[in-house]
Amino acid sequence: MQHNRKILRRTILVSLAILATACGVGSRISRATLSAAAPKSEHQVGFPAELYARSIPADNPQTPAKVALGQALFVDPRLSADKVQRCESCHDYTRGFTDQRKTSVGVDNQLGQRNAPTILNAMFNTTLFWDGRASSLEEQAKSPILNPIEMGMTSSDEVVARLRAIPAYEERFRRAFGREVNFDDIARALASYERTQFSFDSAFDHFIAGDSGAIDGSAKRGWLLFTGKARCVSCHAFSREHPLFTDDRFHNTGVSWRASIATQAAATVTARDQHQIARFEQQIDRLAVGTSASELGRFVVTGSKSDIAAFRTPDLRNLLVTEPYFHDGSAPTLWDVVAHFNRGGVRNPFLDAAIVPLDLSKTDEDDLVAFLATLTSPEYEDAAKMEYQKQFKASRNVLVAAPAEAMR
Ligand code: HEC
Ligand code: HEC
Repeated sequence: MQHNRKILRRTILVSLAILATACGVGSRISRATLSAAAPKSEHQVGFPAELYARSIPADNPQTPAKVALGQALFVDPRLSADKVQRCESCHDYTRGFTDQRKTSVGVDNQLGQRNAPTILNAMFNTTLFWDGRASSLEEQAKSPILNPIEMGMTSSDEVVARLRAIPAYEERFRRAFGREVNFDDIARALASYERTQFSFDSAFDHFIAGDSGAIDGSAKRGWLLFTGKARCVSCHAFSREHPLFTDDRFHNTGVSWRASIATQAAATVTARDQHQIARFEQQIDRLAVGTSASELGRFVVTGSKSDIAAFRTPDLRNLLVTEPYFHDGSAPTLWDVVAHFNRGGVRNPFLDAAIVPLDLSKTDEDDLVAFLATLTSPEYEDAAKMEYQKQFKASRNVLVAAPAEAMR
């Protein structure tokens, strides 16, 4: 038994070594970590098994062949017009499945309007994108491929023709779906791969599971503030059954508010009436990613006044590898984010009623950030520590001219 296991282990190691050489990993060390973009284990403290089971649609069950195909598509530049862009360009595993840019850069170096959210735990979101314009990962996956400034393909037919010309894909689609390449199955495979990227097992998950020493005193005070005086939990909802720090709703918190937004909203309503933009999902996608209408947030999807400049409450896990923050990447550090909420956001006619000045001390702000830092999954712990130090220093540099008590 023991002996067999040893042989098995050696065989696995040898196979890994062969695979590594075949992929050229030896020569490109930064790519070595890519193997960790592989499907995750469900044995993580805090993993919400029931919720996860419900997040998998009946018409797209998880199978190993489909997941592997999705993983290949996720890193394949042939899904883009310039054959450079791939999902992974903007959702890079080593950067917590983001690009760590303010806003993303797509085909021909075109600059988008929005910050790339992480793929980690995206399967739990009831709507996708900052404005919730997609309602499933399958629907979402088609958008970037056809968006002119992201991957820039001109039609689904063009995408399908590309992949049909590649014999290996023909074969893999047949194995995964039992039919030839088509656009819906491309999206299904991508979604299935994304549904393997759940991320829990953080120090905070261990704390909630009963290990009271898993987080330190500052983080514990931060958690109390988060659920109490700072009111964060009223939007970033948390329960053991739904441990995702989001209410899956949309709120105007005043991020990047400009008075001109309201004027623009009025103009967009007229445009909707005239051209019925809402009927055309692709047009909404183009408005959101490529134009200043991005700042209208959820309004572009619903046309409802109360949704002007409202954005989806994001998950708060792994924040120290997904900087900068907010839908436009306008907050470089977590201290900037907390300061935004502490001041009561940016006042505007559509500001959410739950956003009010909080009167938090500098110590309170530090404690909140210490709590947020405990939401880091093990694979990102080292990177997160470095980023925490960097952000801490940046927050202190800003305070140089502030009173001495602000320095703790
Ligand atoms: C050029 C950069 C770029 C590329 C390439 C790209 N994305 Fe994104 N992705 C973004 C940005 C930016 C957003 C947010 C856009 C918005 O909210 O309007 C986003 C949003 C998402 C979301 C929604 C996450 C959430 O929680 O709402 C998913 C899922 C996603 N992308 C998957 C993919 C897949 C799959 C591909 C490849 C087919 C891909 N992306 C290609 C930049 C990119
Ligand atoms: C009224 C609801 C609401 C409250 C209260 C609230 N948030 Fe948020 N939070 C949001 C929304 C919505 C966004 C996205 C805003 C945007 O990008 O325009 C956000 C964004 C964030 C982000 C950025 C995440 C990312 O990936 O970009 C962090 C961090 C955050 N909030 C932490 C907090 C903390 C800490 C508190 C309490 C001090 C708090 N929030 C209170 C709704 C809320």
